[in-house]
Amino acid sequence: TRVSEVDGKAVTTIEGLSEDGTHPLQIAWLSNNVSQCGYCQPGQIMKAADLLARNPQPSSQEIDSALRGNLCRCGTYKRIRIAVADAAGQMKEA
Ligand code: FES
Repeated sequence: TRVSEVDGKAVTTIEGLSEDGTHPLQIAWLSNNVSQCGYCQPGQIMKAADLLARNPQPSSQEIDSALRGNLCRCGTYKRIRIAVADAAGQMKEA
C-alpha cells in the first residue's frame, strides 16, 4: 500500500490492534503457535482483523480468499487459517 493511498485516513497497525495483546486474533496466534520467523505476521494478522471486522464468521474458503496474496515464506498458512477460525469463535462467544 502506497502512503499516498492512505493520506488523510486512519491507519491501524499491529501495535494498535490492542494495547495489551489481548485481541482474539493475537491470543489465537499465540495459542496456535502460528509464527515462525515472524516477518509476515503483522500483515497476516491485520488482514485477518479486517476480514473479521467485515465478516465475523468467515468460512474456510472466505479466510483463504481474504488472506490470498499475503505471502508467508515459512508456510504457516494452515495455522493461520486455524487461528483466524479460533478468533472468530472467541469473538462470537464474547
Ligand atoms: Fe516467516 Fe511468515 S512466519 S514469513
